[in-house]
Amino acid sequence: MLSETTFSDVQSISMKDILERLEDRRAQARLGGGAKRIEAQHGRGKLTARERIELLLDTSSFEEFDMFVEHRSTDFGMEKVKIPGDGVVTGWGTVNGRTVFVFAKDFTVFGGSLSEAHAQKIIKIQDMALKMRAPIVGLFDAGGARIQEGVAALGGYGEVFKRNVIASGVIPQISLIMGPCAGGDVYSPAMTDFIFMVRDRSYMFVTGPEVVKTVTNETVTSEELGGAKVHTTKSSVADGAYDNDVEALLQMRRLLDFLPSNNLDGAPEWPSYDDPNRVDDSLDTLIPDNPNKPYDMKELILKVVDEGDFFEIQEAFAKNIITGLGRLEGRTVGFVANQPMVLAGVLDADASRKAARFVRFCDAFNIPIVTFEDVPGFLPGTAQEYGGLIKHGAKLLFAYSEATVPLVTVITRKAFGGAYDVMASKHVGGDVNYAWPTAQIAVMGAKGAVEIIFRQDMNDPEKIAARTKEYEDRFMSPFVAAERGYIDEVIMPHSTRRRIARALAMLRHKEVERPWKKHDNIPL
Ligand code: HXC
Repeated sequence: MLSETTFSDVQSISMKDILERLEDRRAQARLGGGAKRIEAQHGRGKLTARERIELLLDTSSFEEFDMFVEHRSTDFGMEKVKIPGDGVVTGWGTVNGRTVFVFAKDFTVFGGSLSEAHAQKIIKIQDMALKMRAPIVGLFDAGGARIQEGVAALGGYGEVFKRNVIASGVIPQISLIMGPCAGGDVYSPAMTDFIFMVRDRSYMFVTGPEVVKTVTNETVTSEELGGAKVHTTKSSVADGAYDNDVEALLQMRRLLDFLPSNNLDGAPEWPSYDDPNRVDDSLDTLIPDNPNKPYDMKELILKVVDEGDFFEIQEAFAKNIITGLGRLEGRTVGFVANQPMVLAGVLDADASRKAARFVRFCDAFNIPIVTFEDVPGFLPGTAQEYGGLIKHGAKLLFAYSEATVPLVTVITRKAFGGAYDVMASKHVGGDVNYAWPTAQIAVMGAKGAVEIIFRQDMNDPEKIAARTKEYEDRFMSPFVAAERGYIDEVIMPHSTRRRIARALAMLRHKEVERPWKKHDNIPL
């Protein structure tokens, strides 16, 4: 028979054992696919899933879920290879104190491939993020569906996709591609709000180079098919790219600081030490004397936003329009701006699509939009018309017209033709529309206008010069529009920041009623 002392000794030893066993199991799970595969991951210049999460979230804030989940597959001898966690690390933590849910594919475990159990882990996090109305970030580095599981993996993907769609417009969803991302793995990111990539280490494609070779006989590398350069400059699948894991993760923290947690919270506000009344005299000379000379619209954005802090979206694609997030009086604002430095700031199909998506993102998440306008019109030509310029241009028109967030527009120079209407004009819903004294609001430029309406005088250069001057004097200014109230005020360029900040403060509680509908039918 045990004495009481002996019994308590046994108890304390066994408790210690239990705790140690837990620590051992945790340590085992944290090793993922093992030291060798972790070394290989580092050798490729990539961090492990847990290292990435550590960098993304505030120090020691990560709470991991489902560390011990294993797959239940018994085909192809899989019952003998079970690795705790099953290729994805999931949980939640904080970014500058705000709750964020996260899942990170662990390439060291079955190449991060998605099994039924792996999918269940992601689904749990997606459901929790939606319930808690908090952003979700996915870190991708994986080989697609777990080949040994077949249809069970496909079913898992479907469940993930559906949740992406249900959460769309409710919580921000961000995807960061940090390694391979192929097959089923590409479509979940494609339905999130933003995709970012890591240069030279990540690629995204539906089918890889081998399949491409078999089907189309094209020879391409993974980088050529779906590297960061392709997706940030050609396909526009990705919104930006960074040089390495560390930079990418730190930039995601920066992006999250700009985003509301959900569609009801409103744009976040951080303390700002930048005076909203700050004037910038250099803006008075931003517009060159020659109306055909370009200038850098980014300079205006950087001089208007708080502390010059601007997070650009799709910087390398359709550079004739700029989209991105900044702050005014500490509160997030979306900026859309024609860029005269590229194609004279013309609206083409790519620029329209890019800006339309951004406007809809801001509107979905109650982020006010400031539009800087200097646009000579829509780009003419067969390439554009065959490419569906009408439909793509309509996307931007549609996006601005349906937006109910505060819309402030400043016309700095050209506002010609249909593009004048599209770019958050008063007529499609602009709340406060300002123009600089250098604005030219007209159906088209003077030369084109005169060539059409005074065709009979074309052989008389003197007459044409006189007509052009007459057209310029009458229409190449903001005043015809201001006379009609299409422009609320002609403002001094140097006071642009103050005027916008005051307009946004006035519009803070804007309310707009729209008729009930199931959803609209934007020209896709
Ligand atoms: C199971 C996989 C896997 C997969 C990789 N692995 N992909 N295991 N299912 N899909 C395993 C490998 O066997 C290997 O295990 C480890 O992960 C690392 O893979 P490597 O090939 O050694 O690495 P690397 O050379 O870097 O190549 C990475 C890769 C390649 C490019 C991702 O593994 C690859 O092509 N994988 C298959 C991609 C694919 O076709 N997936 C299915 C897509 S179809 P060991 O034990 O050796 O470390 C799909 C349909 C869904 O996703 C559609 C839904 C709409």
